[in-house]
Amino acid sequence: MKDSATTGDAEYGGYNGYKPWNSGGSGSSSHPLVKRFMRITVFFLGFAMLWIFLYNSASPFGFHSVSHHFIGISTKKIYDPILDGVLKNASMGDKTVIITTLNDAWAEPGSIFDLFLESFRIGKKTEKLLNHLVVITLDQKAHARCLALHPHCFQLETKDDNFTSEAFFMTPGYLHMMWRRIEFLGSVLELGYNFVFTDTDIMWLRDPFTEFYQNADFQIACDFFNGNSYDLKNMPNGGFTYVKSNERTIWFYKFWFASKNAYPKMHDQDVLNKIKRDPYISEMRLSIRFLSTAYFGGFCQPSRDFNKVSTMHANCCVGLDNKINDLKILLEDWSKYIALPQNEKKQSHSSWSVPQSCRTSFQRSKQRKNNGKSL
Ligand SMILES: *[C@@H]1O[C@H](CO)[C@@H](O)[C@H](O)[C@H]1NC(C)=O
Ligand SMILES: *[C@@H]1O[C@H](CO)[C@@H](O)[C@H](O)[C@H]1NC(C)=O
Repeated sequence: MKDSATTGDAEYGGYNGYKPWNSGGSGSSSHPLVKRFMRITVFFLGFAMLWIFLYNSASPFGFHSVSHHFIGISTKKIYDPILDGVLKNASMGDKTVIITTLNDAWAEPGSIFDLFLESFRIGKKTEKLLNHLVVITLDQKAHARCLALHPHCFQLETKDDNFTSEAFFMTPGYLHMMWRRIEFLGSVLELGYNFVFTDTDIMWLRDPFTEFYQNADFQIACDFFNGNSYDLKNMPNGGFTYVKSNERTIWFYKFWFASKNAYPKMHDQDVLNKIKRDPYISEMRLSIRFLSTAYFGGFCQPSRDFNKVSTMHANCCVGLDNKINDLKILLEDWSKYIALPQNEKKQSHSSWSVPQSCRTSFQRSKQRKNNGKSL
């Protein structure tokens, strides 16, 4: 649950300089007209300078796609033959990979990564998907642990970064890590791979590919789903996305990443909420669909039907230990359901015994936030 649930149009309207000038009145005297002319001139000068700047800072490895020229967005290119090799090894026939990111705190034995891998093993038809899972490690220790457990690990080069310890929500380290992720996923798209990105605190209980929409560019799970998969008012959660590699999505990830400058101190997900209605997105014809929590649930809004659930996310939860505690219980609930005879499964009234620690932690953190506000 986010405080920024409602996207104030006033806030998002002022984001870029491309918005047409809607100066009130039609200029009956010459004075406002002159002012308007000056403003437009300044605007074009500014735009030209920005363009020259972006053009010159583009890296020599530039992938020349239409998206590049569309609004001159450019990000650091990460062409890496090792990454290409790891993706190739893990790829499905149609160039799709599953990607997660991992730091040391989550990779420790008994921590989230173990639970994540276990979910694939006890999920229905999910074990084979491990062959297509690429684990992006953010530090040396996580990398070593990944190599010990899994065939497809890739260490993201992070010269100045140190993501080893638990990254606390909304600290500068956390924000940096989240944005690095968006930038990285954009480069995966540029290499021509479709991906399912999954947070490691998402348990895979059924093969999700049967539940995805066929013709969408960008599909995203929700903290709260309102029943309409097209409705931009849904509250997406960037922890689970299915993205097809094409010109539109490559552009979109650049746009998303570039928008971080307009909203410093904001999380990639909150920025997504700000930009999801941006006219540029509909102009680019990027098709966005929101995934139902009936299949892609979490602690914010659980998937109630055990016969349908695909994934469950430890969202609406504060603190690593609380996540570990509740995800263990979740996997026990699932194992009990799986052990039921087939006919009993069909009419099962299984229900989750979680969130427990997660709920308490989340309520406490919300209270703290609210108290902070009223002071
Ligand atoms: C890809 O898989 C082959 C065969 O298992 C292996 O020899 C090679 O090192 C892998 N490539 C990368 C980049 O991991
Ligand atoms: C990264 O941070 C951890 C804990 O904050 C620290 O123990 C470690 O030495 C740091 N590593 C580097 C390379 O700075």
